[in-house]
Amino acid sequence: MAYNRVSDANEITARYLDSILIKQRLIDSVVADTSIEFLGETFQSPVMTPAFSHLVQFKGRELTGLEEYSVAAKDHGMLNFVGMMENDMFEKIMATGAKTVRIVKPYADNGKVRDQMQFAESVGAWGIGMDIDHIFGNQGLDVVIGEKMDVQTSDMLRSYIESTKLPFFVKGVLSADDALKCADLGAKAILVSHHHGRLPYAVPPLQILPEIKAALSGKDVKIIVDCGISSGADVYKCLALGADAAAVGRSMLPSLEDGGVDGVGSFFQGVNDELRFVMSCTGFSKVSDIDDSCLVMPRA
Ligand SMILES: Cc1cc2nc3c(=O)[nH]c(=O)nc-3n(C[C@H](O)[C@H](O)[C@H](O)COP(=O)(O)O)c2cc1C
Repeated sequence: MAYNRVSDANEITARYLDSILIKQRLIDSVVADTSIEFLGETFQSPVMTPAFSHLVQFKGRELTGLEEYSVAAKDHGMLNFVGMMENDMFEKIMATGAKTVRIVKPYADNGKVRDQMQFAESVGAWGIGMDIDHIFGNQGLDVVIGEKMDVQTSDMLRSYIESTKLPFFVKGVLSADDALKCADLGAKAILVSHHHGRLPYAVPPLQILPEIKAALSGKDVKIIVDCGISSGADVYKCLALGADAAAVGRSMLPSLEDGGVDGVGSFFQGVNDELRFVMSCTGFSKVSDIDDSCLVMPRA
């Protein structure tokens, strides 16, 4: 019998996200507040930006896309993330005034890892971290735009974490085993992510989230989800299944390319507005109250 196999984790993730449905609970419900307390700071929304890199100046505008979404994140009271870049670009990101977490690549050049982390701290980054899901490639260790990546051991991660006063974020956690290691090493937050489908058949972040949440019970580690998040309803599902926040990603790109700071700002506003609407319609007045009582999960 012929059938189509789907190995693309982006597609598997989208199907899983869309298979989770939401019940309505309106009587006694009020207009919800979407603000959050996150690692000692208040943000207007649990929606965060993605750790992106290499975005050019769209349509000949003055700022790169990276700076534009950073400005919009600041305007909308969101925690901002950026990814692979050199220090001069990171300095430009900091000039936007956005509270920003710098996700450093798992470079083979360990001096570069340390230099980028120290530089981030010296220019006022809000947090630092590493995307551990970019260590391996099909040829062995990955090479990203000419830069070699290398294995990151528990000892190496511990030494980065101990070398900074900033909260440390590990991006690319997709198992309870790695989540527990992050907690033991002293990471303050993990991003549950498959990095837009690097691993074939990667489990959807929302499908593994309850297992990760249970493993981290009693540990002081925040959980952010990314991959395929494109609406307030998606963010709501992440929060309901145990995340503290969720990051949009490629879903913001059309608004960013077309409309720059204002365009992507409207996109962020729309996602947050829909989140508030779904919270209100399900009887949750604040983010920290949200649980899975209004979700209908797909049959196993
Ligand atoms: C253009 C682009 C650049 C990216 N650069 C980085 C990066 O440098 N570091 C990183 O950790 N993730 C990077 N990512 C991955 C995103 O942070 C995110 O994990 C991924 O896109 C999944 O989210 P999405 O499905 O919502 O796009 C990049 C993604 C894109 C599309």
